[in-house]
Amino acid sequence: MIAVRYHDSTKHHFNRFARSLGYLDWATQPDPFRRYQGAPLRALPHDPLARGVPYAALFSAAVPAQPVTTHAIGEFLRCSMGLSAWKQYGQSRWALRVNPSSGNLHPTEAWIVHDGRVWHYAPREHALEERCVLAGTPGGVVESGDCFLVALTSIAWREAWKYGERAFRYCQHDAGHALGALRLAAAMLGWRLRVLPEWPDAQIAALLGLDREADFDGAEQEEPECLALVGPDANGDGRDARTWIRNPQVLVDAARSGSWSGRANRLSADHVLWPVIDEVIAATRYSGIGGRGLGIRDQGSGIGEAAPPQAISRTRVVDPGSRPDDLDARGIILQRRSALAFNPRGALQRDAFLAMLNRLRPGAPPWDAIDWPPQVHLVLFVHRVQDVTPGVYAYLRDAPVRDEWKAAMRAEFLWEPVSSDPRTTSAPDLYLLLPIEAGRIAKRLSCDQDIAEDGFFGLAMIARVDEPLRARGEWFYRRLFWECGLIGQVLYLEAEAAGARATGIGCYYDDPVHDLLGLSGHAWQSLYHFSMGLPVEDTRLTSEPGYAWEGGRE
Ligand SMILES: Cc1cc2nc3c(=O)[nH]c(=O)nc-3n(C[C@H](O)[C@H](O)[C@H](O)COP(=O)(O)O)c2cc1C
Repeated sequence: MIAVRYHDSTKHHFNRFARSLGYLDWATQPDPFRRYQGAPLRALPHDPLARGVPYAALFSAAVPAQPVTTHAIGEFLRCSMGLSAWKQYGQSRWALRVNPSSGNLHPTEAWIVHDGRVWHYAPREHALEERCVLAGTPGGVVESGDCFLVALTSIAWREAWKYGERAFRYCQHDAGHALGALRLAAAMLGWRLRVLPEWPDAQIAALLGLDREADFDGAEQEEPECLALVGPDANGDGRDARTWIRNPQVLVDAARSGSWSGRANRLSADHVLWPVIDEVIAATRYSGIGGRGLGIRDQGSGIGEAAPPQAISRTRVVDPGSRPDDLDARGIILQRRSALAFNPRGALQRDAFLAMLNRLRPGAPPWDAIDWPPQVHLVLFVHRVQDVTPGVYAYLRDAPVRDEWKAAMRAEFLWEPVSSDPRTTSAPDLYLLLPIEAGRIAKRLSCDQDIAEDGFFGLAMIARVDEPLRARGEWFYRRLFWECGLIGQVLYLEAEAAGARATGIGCYYDDPVHDLLGLSGHAWQSLYHFSMGLPVEDTRLTSEPGYAWEGGRE
């Protein structure tokens, strides 16, 4: 399988990193902002719309629905794919975004189909570029009103510029993070969002005009990732009966004979070719439910400066007990950042830790955005969680996996269940495998990065690879990373809500992780690492809001 060959060839080893240029060629640094020159630009309203939504409500789908208006779509994009800050150090100035990205390179672009038009989101301007007026009835074939479509695409070159051949993996992580950001922004507006399995990649490309070669003359291609339906009733059967969802051809025909404007800007003056990326992109394209691609729907805190507990002296404890119930969802979403370093004196309360893990169970948002049962489970390196023995743990998002993991992993692992409340119930999905001070191990495995050691905990996302790729097709390789990105996005927000901070870790040594766990073959592979802790700010950087109209210096 090409995807598995790609995966193996882009592993980091202790003695050899995956192939890349090995240095940063500043002369070809990609422009972080794609624009379609010549396309009419429609500014989106600046006023916040979703004030006062409690953070916890994001995960319960309990927010009253906002009507689907341009203003609300603007808020949806602002709180998922918009800019979160401008940072400056010396002469360098760069934007951060609500969605995270490996190396802050942002390969993911967002598109909206609404009001009979195809729009590309321009995050720097917070505006929509009108790429196409769809042919059809006045107002277009996609009715305005109660729902719209959002699509994600990737520009692999942005990541490949820095990371070479491993870049395709990062594009897919980033797409997963973006999907999570979209789903939770939709929840904030009382909307649902679900990826539509009816849409093959080629038809998404046609709808978005990505296959209009003349519009990309010399510019980097965008690769379709997914198309999702968004709105108050996006999961309802009534709306799903619309022909343009069930039968993408209707909308594709309207796009093919629509009226197009704009040409993609060129992001870099020159490019380095990485043929394995082109190969894996082609091999993992989704050809739709007509093939083997039928998706199966799954059944399925404020910070406290608590008095240091005796067990951890001079420690700052992140205490969910002092976390207000009415934490503002919008504020948490917009303040998300990656920690650059952690204070090793930070500690997390046990209940907060278990509650965070609970958010990763399927069922609630963002998990209703995807239509497959969990394929990714966690191996945690717990360093500083109060009343939790430091060590290596397994967190299973699907209980039956336990027997498989037990059989696949080292025989000496304990598999000791961790109780969510020491006095009463147990949390059968969290197991202590090995009591050990795992900080050094986690750091070594994560390309020797301190953030893997200095936080409360680090983790490896272990995905089932062989079986789903064989059963469904190579296209599912991308989805495994999306699932990892969704997990990461939830944990990023959970960290902020707890008064802590998190960081995604794409740089890790693949097979040494498998060796530690006793895993062999491709049944299970580590696809992403992550860490959480008490952040140490880099005071050398100055920070301004993402948009001038949102206030002065932070
Ligand atoms: C897939 C992925 C992999 C990442 N890998 C690392 C990493 O190995 N080390 C690190 O320090 N940060 C890593 N990050 C964090 C990014 O550098 C960070 O998201 C980016 O600089 C943007 O900053 P922000 O998250 O504060 O918006 C990763 C982020 C993502 C999404």
